[in-house]
Amino acid sequence: MVGTDAHACAGTAGRAAWWREAVVYELYVRSFADGNGDGVGDLIGARGRLPHLADLGIDAVWLTPFYRSPMADGGYDVADHRDVDPLFGDLGDLDAFVAEAHALGLRVLVDVVPNHSSVQHPWFVEARAAAPGSAARARYVFRPGRGGSGELPPNNWQSDFGGPAWTRLPDGDWYLHLFDPEQADFDWSHPDVGRHFEEILRFWLDRGVDGFRIDVAHGLVKDPTLPDAPDRPELPAGLYLPSGPQWDQPGVHDVYRAWRRVLEEYPGERMAIGEAWVADRAAMARYVRADELHQVFDFAFLQASWKAADLRGAVTRSLDAVGLVGASATWVLNNHDVARTVTRFGGGPVGLRRARAAALLMLALPGSAYLYQGEELGLADVDLPAEALRDPVWQRSGHTRRGRDGGRVPLPWSRSGSSFGFGSGAPPWLPVPSGWGECSVEAQSGHEDSTLELYRRALDLRRRHLVPAGPEVEFLDAGADAVALRRGDVLCVLNLGREQLPDPDGARLLLRSDRTAGAPDTAAWWRLP
Ligand code: GLC
Repeated sequence: MVGTDAHACAGTAGRAAWWREAVVYELYVRSFADGNGDGVGDLIGARGRLPHLADLGIDAVWLTPFYRSPMADGGYDVADHRDVDPLFGDLGDLDAFVAEAHALGLRVLVDVVPNHSSVQHPWFVEARAAAPGSAARARYVFRPGRGGSGELPPNNWQSDFGGPAWTRLPDGDWYLHLFDPEQADFDWSHPDVGRHFEEILRFWLDRGVDGFRIDVAHGLVKDPTLPDAPDRPELPAGLYLPSGPQWDQPGVHDVYRAWRRVLEEYPGERMAIGEAWVADRAAMARYVRADELHQVFDFAFLQASWKAADLRGAVTRSLDAVGLVGASATWVLNNHDVARTVTRFGGGPVGLRRARAAALLMLALPGSAYLYQGEELGLADVDLPAEALRDPVWQRSGHTRRGRDGGRVPLPWSRSGSSFGFGSGAPPWLPVPSGWGECSVEAQSGHEDSTLELYRRALDLRRRHLVPAGPEVEFLDAGADAVALRRGDVLCVLNLGREQLPDPDGARLLLRSDRTAGAPDTAAWWRLP
């Protein structure tokens, strides 16, 4: 193998901040563990399962929204950002979760949803009752319609979930919702909105959380003239990276500069990661400038196909982008919005093999990695019956898109039981497949070949060998169908081709994603002499 190029993410002087190389686990609260037997995961249930996360070897947990919400979009429709929804528990349960996580050495990130609120948020309730053009409506994006009698929406924007992004009230005014009609977009040019969110950040920082995952981070600020959006630009097949006057407007960066100042008032390296679906590398880098967010997910990596050139291209472009501004890279292969890797990479045994191999690539890269619950069990998406679907995407798309429920099925913890250990009362909010117990934590623990043990070993080796190697990475040429990289004395080789790859000279095998190192659709970590 011959070295071809080298990348480095700038580090901080001395010890690097914890989040730069952290492995963060996305805990999708309603599907993780049900502590009170109502069929929905909650904070008490999650707290009871924290030892699993500590054993896994992660550094931090990201909790998806547990705030007061009518649950039109699984809690991403927040009615009160400073309280816990009774479905998930109460503030005391949250405090207990954070305290226990900290006692186990885990940090806690919480979701913040600043682009929109539930239509049941007191501000929207007030706005709806007020007259068109009133001050109460100015905190959201209300506009008169087009057409002779305002019967047409103010512009052609489409909701991400399907259908127009505008809904008309009986008084004739329209309000904007880039997602569900139950999720009204704030108008971030109104000073109340920024103040409100700074109070929200402080509320949770005061309670001891270590940082935030920012929902729809690229959406807050719209082009103030609200022009029609151009037709969707051509993107490589399957790539979802929105652009247009609704997304990634320059003014959004003022918001994150202000938030960074808030975070820096607190001790203990509090941080924020943005969910910004942006196509352009320079655009991505702008979110992680030194005075803005600490991290931003790289969604091109998540969307890369099972081709060496795609994966390698996504990785090197991301490293280049964050390198421009001295930030560290942030990798993700799974989350609650996309099909799981097992399913994306072909499903069945092939999909699982590839998902395990992709995980070893991700965990070998410099920067931090975000796992999604169940990824460590090698779960695939579940093909749910139509009547079980709860994602608003299913309704809003006129039953043309099944939505994201297939990847949100409650986790299996034990081999047996009606919901395989998820809960012990009402049936789970999404049905679990009959074979789910074989994927459970109980079934996989202690089995050398299981996906759970693969993740445990990978996280342990990563902590001992890769993190100390620092941010430098060297890509090596291992042929057109492989991705090979070296960090310190560790070599990671991912084989996407059809031929067996030879063992590297003199190297000692550290870890392989499947029985035979170097086999097609596998990855291995080697210790170089
Ligand atoms: C983000 C969330 C997604 C939600 C949407 C609207 O993309 O990850 O689950 O539906 O925002 O809040």
